[in-house]
Amino acid sequence: MTTLKVNGADRTVDAPGDTPLLWVLRDELNLTGTKYGCGMGLCGACTVHVNGAAVRACQTPLATVAGKRITTIEGLGSPQTLHIVQKAWQEEDVPQCGYCQSGQIMSAAALLGSTRNPSDHDIDAAMAGNICRCGTYDRIRRAIHRAAAALRKETTA
Ligand code: FES
Ligand code: FES
Repeated sequence: MTTLKVNGADRTVDAPGDTPLLWVLRDELNLTGTKYGCGMGLCGACTVHVNGAAVRACQTPLATVAGKRITTIEGLGSPQTLHIVQKAWQEEDVPQCGYCQSGQIMSAAALLGSTRNPSDHDIDAAMAGNICRCGTYDRIRRAIHRAAAALRKETTA
């Protein structure tokens, strides 16, 4: 048994320690917002936060995250209170098919957690591992700048 803190709640999982976190989230905890893309750490569709940092859940064995704080797209905001990045995503109308978007949003939120005023270069560097087959990259960049501006306004208000 492994106990995790997922989206603020303690969850106990009965799975081998080498099970990828992605499958624990999706199959054991029914948190299907985190997507399977490549299973090789190459596409970013499975991005979640572990103690606030963006990680690829498909490459993260369950045993390595025992007791750590895990946030998935389901726990980032709520339909009533969107996270500032989700709000910017909505305002910039970012998604196309949507498949990559929870991973994109989780990477963007982690970036803004550490860099309040990211340059285009910072954004490209932080988001380089998140692939979008629909090519929404320009809108993603605009949404991150929008979220960063909103965040700065919020913290100086
Ligand atoms: S599914 Fe994890 S990086 Fe592609
Ligand atoms: S919106 Fe379709 S893959 Fe990114």
